[in-house]
Amino acid sequence: MKKIVILISGRGSNMQAILEARLPLSVAAVISNDATASGLITAQKHGVATRVVDHRAHADRAAFDTALAAAIDEYAPDLLVLAGFMRILTAGFVEHYRDRILNIHPSLLPSFTGLHTHRRALEAGVKVHGCSVHFVTPELDHGPIVAQAAVPVLDDDSEDTLAARVLAQEHRIYPQAVAWFCAERLRITENGSVELAEAGRPTDALVVPVSA
Ligand code: GRF
Repeated sequence: MKKIVILISGRGSNMQAILEARLPLSVAAVISNDATASGLITAQKHGVATRVVDHRAHADRAAFDTALAAAIDEYAPDLLVLAGFMRILTAGFVEHYRDRILNIHPSLLPSFTGLHTHRRALEAGVKVHGCSVHFVTPELDHGPIVAQAAVPVLDDDSEDTLAARVLAQEHRIYPQAVAWFCAERLRITENGSVELAEAGRPTDALVVPVSA
């Protein structure tokens, strides 16, 4: 059975979705860069080992990443799962786990990389928004895309209502993507796209708006 380590910084609802999906994999540990992350308590309630590697206790990004990698490597995971982990990782760290780090980002990449994605989607007036699971490369929010889910943007959406609609889809596609990785069904092709072995064929389009 594959082993994963999950990195969080806060609430950890994506982590929780993965834990509660009861996937055929072992969650070796949940590690946070912030001791106050409420997701740590959720992980403990699920009987998962937790660790804190506080970025503030390290002189710079490289020193933090070295300490983080040392903690992770004690568990020898097959996959690192970033679930609301709010630190930018150094190229050296990413290279150490090459093709073995997944992240969830709350936008349809390559649109809206970075922060405040829901606010920016509303400002841009897009009719469709969503979330993406991608492999992590040194360039922030740019790695090969594994899965995406799209949601409609409604006229009366606030940042919060849109975020909630996207988050529900994050909780759906992230456990799925982690399961695919652990079943060795994902392959990164030479041109940087990701193929799923034995994939079905989606047919429905999401068209927004629709007339009443
Ligand atoms: C999610 O929206 C995730 O996409 C983003 O940060 C948020 C984390 O939420 N990277 P949670 O900690 O998983 O609840």
